[in-house]
Amino acid sequence: MERFEAYEKLVISIEEASEADIEVLIDIEKSLPQTNTYSAMYTEDEWKQELAENKIYLIKDREVPIGSVAYVERSLEHIYISGIVVRPEYQGKGIATNAIKGVLEKYRNATRFDLATHPDNPALKLYESLGFKVEERKENYFGDGEPRLILALTNTHGPSAVSSFE
Ligand SMILES: CC(C)(COP(=O)(O)OP(=O)(O)OC[C@H]1O[C@@H](n2cnc3c(N)ncnc32)[C@H](O)[C@@H]1OP(=O)(O)O)[C@@H](O)C(=O)NCCC(=O)NCCS
Repeated sequence: MERFEAYEKLVISIEEASEADIEVLIDIEKSLPQTNTYSAMYTEDEWKQELAENKIYLIKDREVPIGSVAYVERSLEHIYISGIVVRPEYQGKGIATNAIKGVLEKYRNATRFDLATHPDNPALKLYESLGFKVEERKENYFGDGEPRLILALTNTHGPSAVSSFE
């Protein structure tokens, strides 16, 4: 029998999340292997608070939610990227890179983007490839007993984006 693999292109879109999406957001967190380099959020209360304080977007492949990206507008000039997650089976395809580029493009007039990540998180390479620089290390930053690095991208006019957040 002849076998072949069908190649299906991803069709990525970004949609703002609401409380109706909390179950989906938790499901995405649960799909990740547990590690000390990332504090996953598994409860409805945590997500309610997160939704109240952040702009949260679901990343979808057609209608299938495959990740999330979140940020806080500290001001129109200063954006804090508070979260980025991609389901393991979709990782390594540039989805997180493009989602973050989408935020940088949306706020192309901002002068500062920053975020916090664990020093051993492989995402560090992703952020550095986008031009983020390590500013400082903070111990127990999220209260999980683990250190975080604060990274910032400053004085930028933003690269051209692939994702759209309009
Ligand atoms: C971090 C994360 C969102 C990256 O998603 P992704 O869509 O796979 O990222 P990309 O495909 O855009 O990766 C870009 C680069 O980041 C680096 N990278 C990201 N995740 C990596 C991983 N798990 N292992 C090794 N390298 C990784 C690689 O350098 C990669 O470039 P390459 O593919 O050319 O080698 C995903 O791994 C994830 O959900 N991790 C768990 C949650 C988490 O830690 N989030 C970050 C919190 S600060």
